[in-house]
This record gives sequence, C-alpha cells and structure tokens, in this order.
Amino acid sequence: MSSELLFSASRIGDVSFQNRLAVAPMTRVTASEEGIAGERMRAYYDDFARGGFALIITEGIYIDKAWSQTYAYQAGMVNDKQAAAWKTIADAVHLRGGKIFAQIQHSGALSQGNHYLEGTVGPSAVRPVGKQMAFYRGEGEYPVPRELTGSEIQDIIESFADAASRAVTDAGFDGIEIHGANGYLLDQFLTDDTNQRTDKWGGDTAARLALSLEVIKAIRNRVGKRIPVGIRISQGKVNDFFHKWAQGEEDARVVFSQLAASGIDYLHLTEFEAWKPAFEGNPASLVALARKYAPDLTIIANGNLHDPNRAVQVLNEGADMIALGRGALANHDWPHRVKYHQPLNAFNSSILAPIADIKDSEIPA
Ligand SMILES: Cc1cc2nc3c(=O)[nH]c(=O)nc-3n(C[C@H](O)[C@H](O)[C@H](O)COP(=O)(O)O)c2cc1C
Repeated sequence: MSSELLFSASRIGDVSFQNRLAVAPMTRVTASEEGIAGERMRAYYDDFARGGFALIITEGIYIDKAWSQTYAYQAGMVNDKQAAAWKTIADAVHLRGGKIFAQIQHSGALSQGNHYLEGTVGPSAVRPVGKQMAFYRGEGEYPVPRELTGSEIQDIIESFADAASRAVTDAGFDGIEIHGANGYLLDQFLTDDTNQRTDKWGGDTAARLALSLEVIKAIRNRVGKRIPVGIRISQGKVNDFFHKWAQGEEDARVVFSQLAASGIDYLHLTEFEAWKPAFEGNPASLVALARKYAPDLTIIANGNLHDPNRAVQVLNEGADMIALGRGALANHDWPHRVKYHQPLNAFNSSILAPIADIKDSEIPA
C-alpha cells in the first residue's frame, strides 16, 4: 500500500498541516513540582517537530488549582509561569514549521498526585476499578471520590475555558484538545457505571455527555471561531482497558451526532486497535461510525497505527489524520523514516520505566 496519502497536506479549520501525522498526547511527568515545563520537555517536543510530525498534541495539562491535577510533575495551565513555559515549547515547534495543540485535562477520580488539594472528586462516589499506575508514582486502589456539587461543576466548565484561553493567548498554542477520553473526568461523566447522578448531568447517554458539550461551548465562546477545538473520545480507560459502550452503535450515534452539532472542529478517537470493529456483532470501527454520524468533522484516529499500511487503511476508512503514541516514542522521526523508506524502531517499554518521565536517550545530544 502506498504511504503517499500520509504525506498529503491537511487542515483543521484555519490551521494547515504539512502532512497527516500527529504525535498522540503522552503524559511524561517531567515538569517541576509546581507544574512548570522545562528545557527537557522543550527538547523532547522539538524533536518530534524536527522528525516531521505536522501536529503535536501535548500531554494532558491540568486546568485548575483544585482537583484537576492527575499526576505529580504534570505540567499545568493555571498561571502565567506555566503558560510562559509552554510558550517556549510552542515557539520551538513553530520554528520547525510544526503545529501544536494543548490537551487540557481534569483527572476526576483518577488523580494520583495533586500539588494543590487532598482527595479526589468525580461525578459520583464510586471507587474507580483497577489499580493506580506505578510509572506515575501511584500505588494500590484508587480512593473513593467525593461527588461534585452543581456549583463545582460550573467552576470546572469555567476552568476548562480559562485554561484554553491561556493556552491560546499566552502560550501560543494553535488549537485545543479537550481530554474526554481514557477514564478521566469527562469520560467518568459519560460512562454509565461511574456516573450515577440524578441531576441534569446524569441519566441516559445524551445526559451523560452534557458536561462535555458545556465545556465545548464555554471554550468556543472564549477562544473564538478561528481556533481549532477538538475532543478526544475513547471506550477504553487507563483503569478499565476493555470497557465498551453498553448500547453499541446507538451510543456511538448519540455521542458522535451530538459532538458534530457542538461546535468542535475535530474528533480524536482512540481505540486499542483503531481498525478493528468497535462493537461485537458489528463490523464498523469507531472511526467508521464517527464518519457516519459526524460526517463533517475532521477525525484524528489513534491506536496501534505505527505500521504505515494500517495508518493508510484507517485514512481510507474515514480518518483525516493519524496520531501515533508509542510508535512516535520509538521513532521521533517516524514521518521522515516512512517517507524516505528507512526502517522503524520497535517500541521498547523500558523507556517508561521505572517512572514515565522523559529519558536522556530521548533528547538529542
Ligand atoms: C506514556 C504514555 C502516556 C500517555 N498519556 C496520555 C495523555 O496524557 N493523554 C491521552 O489522551 N492519552 C495518553 N496516552 C495514550 C496515547 O495517546 C495513545 O492513545 C496510546 O498510546 C495508544 O496509541 P499507540 O498505539 O499509538 O501507542 C498515553 C500513552 C502513553 C504510552
């Protein structure tokens, strides 16, 4: 299969890309304790831009001084110092001709390290399944979160908008990705077993998506029409890898058609293997279902797409761009390697051990 399609130009709204390849968001817990990105992070992100990725989506960045921080040494977007540190990174990527979007995140019940406050919060007081992640300094079970009040939920919507505004205006990011995936706060609201609320934020699938829709609206109002805004969506979670939406394609219809009408520019979908059927007994992948129910949105697909043939296959199934996680960690210059027919390195998980911070070997000498 020809890989040419990967190297055709693309765009999201007013922002154009030299190819269809993005670095997927990856939390590397390399900021200071106060959440300030440093030189090591600048060199790491710069290297992906140098390697030919047209778009870099940052690791999840926390949005407030309350309960949004997820991991110790995670970078934030809650004060001028943090924004200025990110600007150094955005400037470096721009100098290479690349584009960079900020992924903004609220941890909800999955927080394992918070510089600001004790405890965790979530839609309902339900203990998350699974175990905390050791490579992010976690240990044992997750605590039972405290149920958020209605006014705290309003504060969180505001904080998402504040962080987005800071990311665009002060840090120079080209776009905003809302982290609605992988089991963090917005996904906890969307998921039936973690959201047992009886107010307007709970109930059927549409009601459970309402918080994400309000966050989108608040961000759009704040950053204006010209800045690309997208949301990352998944079925699986960091603490519940094989979770599936209970009503299969019907849930996909509700989620994707409401997001299509929400004012976002793009959907970033992540599945373990992006080309596989999303639900048992239905051959369609999540990408194909998103294309069906959100025909006009740009789709970024992610999930084991480091083999260029797979990546092209998923573009042909309806995606517009491909995001690589581990494939990019193993090959910061994956686009150049594939374009010029150079061999690819296999991903070696030792790079994330014992802690997932950025290693010396990932930074150019
Ligand atoms: C070390 C590491 C950190 C990650 N951090 C994030 C994150 O901050 N935000 C997010 O949405 N996904 C995160 N992910 C998930 C990746 O973006 C991606 O979905 C996953 O690695 C699967 O894609 P791949 O098969 O190309 O690796 C992380 C993955 C890894 C390996």
